[in-house]
Amino acid sequence: MQQQRNGRLAGRTALVTGAASGIGFAIARHFIAEGATVVLADRDPRVEQATIDLGGAAALVFDVSDESAVVRAVAEATAVLGRIDTLVTSHGILTESPVASMATTQWQQTIDVDLTSVFVLCREVLPGMLDRGDGRIINIASQLGIKGGDGLAHYAAAKAGVIALTKSLALEVSARGVLVNAIAPGPIETPLVEGISEEWKVAKRAELPLGRFGTVDEVAPTAVLLAASPDGNLFVGQTLGPNSGDVM
Ligand SMILES: NC(=O)c1ccc[n+]([C@@H]2O[C@H](COP(=O)([O-])OP(=O)(O)OC[C@H]3O[C@@H](n4cnc5c(N)ncnc54)[C@H](O)[C@@H]3O)[C@@H](O)[C@H]2O)c1
Repeated sequence: MQQQRNGRLAGRTALVTGAASGIGFAIARHFIAEGATVVLADRDPRVEQATIDLGGAAALVFDVSDESAVVRAVAEATAVLGRIDTLVTSHGILTESPVASMATTQWQQTIDVDLTSVFVLCREVLPGMLDRGDGRIINIASQLGIKGGDGLAHYAAAKAGVIALTKSLALEVSARGVLVNAIAPGPIETPLVEGISEEWKVAKRAELPLGRFGTVDEVAPTAVLLAASPDGNLFVGQTLGPNSGDVM
């Protein structure tokens, strides 16, 4: 993908988390191709090579569930970029367990990584965005946050929280120029779903009106849409669903 000087995100800056892999990597790639200057973040050090490969502005390696690391990382990204126009939160973990045998630590880890970190990241980027009266926040939720998931109560609860956080924050800040939205993908072929049993995948594909999982390149354009102007100007507190028809 070649960077377009007159792309839809030319002159815009972004911090993308979960950018070493999957959907976050693809969003960083599409943003850069559309002319944005992007800082890529992940706890996985492979984000450094990803940044070199994509021509990103900088790589930040940190754990999003470590609040002080998030505070430092947002300050570092702001120093590199001058300002953060767009935050994309695309990090996440997924484990499986029935509620009846789920340890509180498993529940809490998922809430910390998949939900509380999103709150902290949003809070840390907001002052700059509100000062300028300009910003976009795009949180990657999941369709399971709407419909729930068997064996995935912790993950679904975290993602439902991300959707509610997105709507509530949109109510708080949209009149001040900061647009906050979520994307709730359906099953997408990434390392996150690789660990799930083949039996589940076959059953899930059969359940989907489209009959197949999506690819990361079918999700990333939704993030470009929400980040771009005028394309994304009227989306406020929405949850867009590139999900193969899993939720309508
Ligand atoms: N793949 C799917 O089917 C699907 C569906 C709906 C929603 N999602 C969501 O999309 C987002 C991206 O997932 P993906 O499918 O690209 O998975 P992925 O595993 O390919 O990417 C997730 C990235 O998040 C990073 N990460 C995990 N925990 C972290 C932490 N504590 N600190 C910093 N980084 C951390 C990982 O290192 C990884 O690079 C996640 O929020 C996920 O819940 C995925």
